[in-house]
Amino acid sequence: MELYGIIGDPVEHSLSPPMHEAAYRELGLDASYVRFHVEEGDVEEAVEGAKALGVDGFNVTVPHKQAVASLPRLELDDTAEAISAVNTVDLGEMKAYNTDAAGVSRSLERHDVDVAGATAVVVGAGGAARAMAYELSRLDAEVHVANRTEEKADRLADEFDVSGHGLGALDDLVPEADLLLNATTVGMEEDRSPVDADLLHPELTVFDAVYTPLETRLLRDAEAAGADTIDGAWMLVYQGVEAFEIWTDLEAPVEDMDDALRRRLR
Ligand code: ATR
Repeated sequence: MELYGIIGDPVEHSLSPPMHEAAYRELGLDASYVRFHVEEGDVEEAVEGAKALGVDGFNVTVPHKQAVASLPRLELDDTAEAISAVNTVDLGEMKAYNTDAAGVSRSLERHDVDVAGATAVVVGAGGAARAMAYELSRLDAEVHVANRTEEKADRLADEFDVSGHGLGALDDLVPEADLLLNATTVGMEEDRSPVDADLLHPELTVFDAVYTPLETRLLRDAEAAGADTIDGAWMLVYQGVEAFEIWTDLEAPVEDMDDALRRRLR
């Protein structure tokens, strides 16, 4: 049997187990996916222990993505190296990846969004924003990052050759944008939007990384403005799809993984 899992703190509410197990069921794989609660400071020992126990691979969630990226025994792929964060480890090969970036581009591709040449505005400058800014920039979008703490946006801008702003710049950026992505926690378990509804327009595609609730205030405002919307489940599904494909070399059953996830989110 193959064994996969996720390390994090907290990890109890992770939706990755049902998503991956739906894929194993659909493809008839003899595999399991479990949650491992790992505290800060125990990360290196946990990874060595998992390797010794024969665990095949694992995902990494908060707060360990940066810590895993700096473990000396893991070889990082270009994306994980650039973002300085790992969310997927293949213990057989001792290779580490960041599939959050692919989660962004595959979600956009799924919704037929042309990224090359598009003007994209990322709101936020944390982990999710880093994956978005890196990936959109790699795909030749013109990327603007706007954050409450402007210095964080500026720092991210320097790293990825994008432009950094404070939230005030949204007034000028959003009306001219093709793509608006929310990478803040605003809207999570609350009916608030990080972007003024008056700025939204029909030429815009709005992508929200928040998935609790699936229909955020931002996405409701976007729909009302006639914009296309992409909810937060997509990024979660496609980062999982990408991890599944790295581990198994099989094509992931995307719809089954998506169904399993959405059933739990509803
Ligand atoms: P993640 O790893 O999920 O991206 P994070 O690293 O904690 O989460 O980042 C959270 C992001 O949400 C940050 O950009 C944060 O802005 P600051 O850098 O100024 O803290 C943003 N954020 C959180 N609460 C916010 C709020 N009330 N208004 C605007 N931005 C907010």
